[in-house]
Amino acid sequence: MADLSSIFAPVSAPADASLHAARVVLAITAAIFVIVAGLLAYAIVAFRRRADDDGSEPPQVYGSDRIELAWTVVPILLVVVLCLVTARTVYDVQAAPKPPGAIDVTVVGHQWWWEIRYPELGIVTANELHVPVSERGNRSPTFLTLESADVVHSFWVPQLAGKTDLIPNRRNLMWIEPREPGLYRGQCAEFCGTQHAHMLLRVYVEPRAEFDRWVAAQQAPAAPPDTMGRRVFESTACVNCHTVRGTDAAGTFGPDLTHLMSRETLGAGAARISARTLDAWIADPNRMKPGVLMPAMQLSGPERWRLVKFLVSLR
Ligand code: CUA
Repeated sequence: MADLSSIFAPVSAPADASLHAARVVLAITAAIFVIVAGLLAYAIVAFRRRADDDGSEPPQVYGSDRIELAWTVVPILLVVVLCLVTARTVYDVQAAPKPPGAIDVTVVGHQWWWEIRYPELGIVTANELHVPVSERGNRSPTFLTLESADVVHSFWVPQLAGKTDLIPNRRNLMWIEPREPGLYRGQCAEFCGTQHAHMLLRVYVEPRAEFDRWVAAQQAPAAPPDTMGRRVFESTACVNCHTVRGTDAAGTFGPDLTHLMSRETLGAGAARISARTLDAWIADPNRMKPGVLMPAMQLSGPERWRLVKFLVSLR
């Protein structure tokens, strides 16, 4: 199972528990299917119409306490077992205690991107979640508080955990505890408008030292250069929606751009980030992501290029 987004290749505790529960349910339901389909196939073959049939009705049987009892009691028992398996898994995941080394992250769903905040570390980023790998003896699971700025979204990274919705005016909690470094991909799993399919998530699970380096880099001020590009940025509507710490821009409607180039994608996975894609994005975001809420900025070619040069300096 090399697929990087398969539920059958979990690398984190809640996803392990979900897969285990799913396997038990699948085994029970597969056994039911084999028995029922087997009996059906047997009946179809054994009692098929034959050449020497005389056309009369077979003997009609009405009522059998034993059979009726069996097909009532057995399904009830099966449903009870399936309920208990599910309830136990749900309880185990929800009641998991938070160890001291846990990381807190708040994820806010927006049409159509993910705002990612680390309240204790003072970091704000978007679409790409960085978490440390959890080690035996030095556990560091990540506890996620899920909120929504507009409609219902759903946070789903199949290899790490099941889905949890992000609901306006409500806080949902979930956690992940990845045990293998790597990049795990996910996406919004609840229809949230035209660009629902382009609301991708990237989770970077890093060894502790690498995660600490990332944290330090994100905490540092952006140190934006005082260039013409910066003046273009600060004098257009960009600042109403975006924040770049250290400049006049403090908008919160769109993603924080302070360390824009530390990310690999733009537009929640719409494209790889580069000067070329940023230029195309600013020229007409709607072309790369139809329905996107960011308007085209109507800048002249040279102005746009200065702005792009400013943006690619945000490391
Ligand atoms: Cu957000 Cu679908």
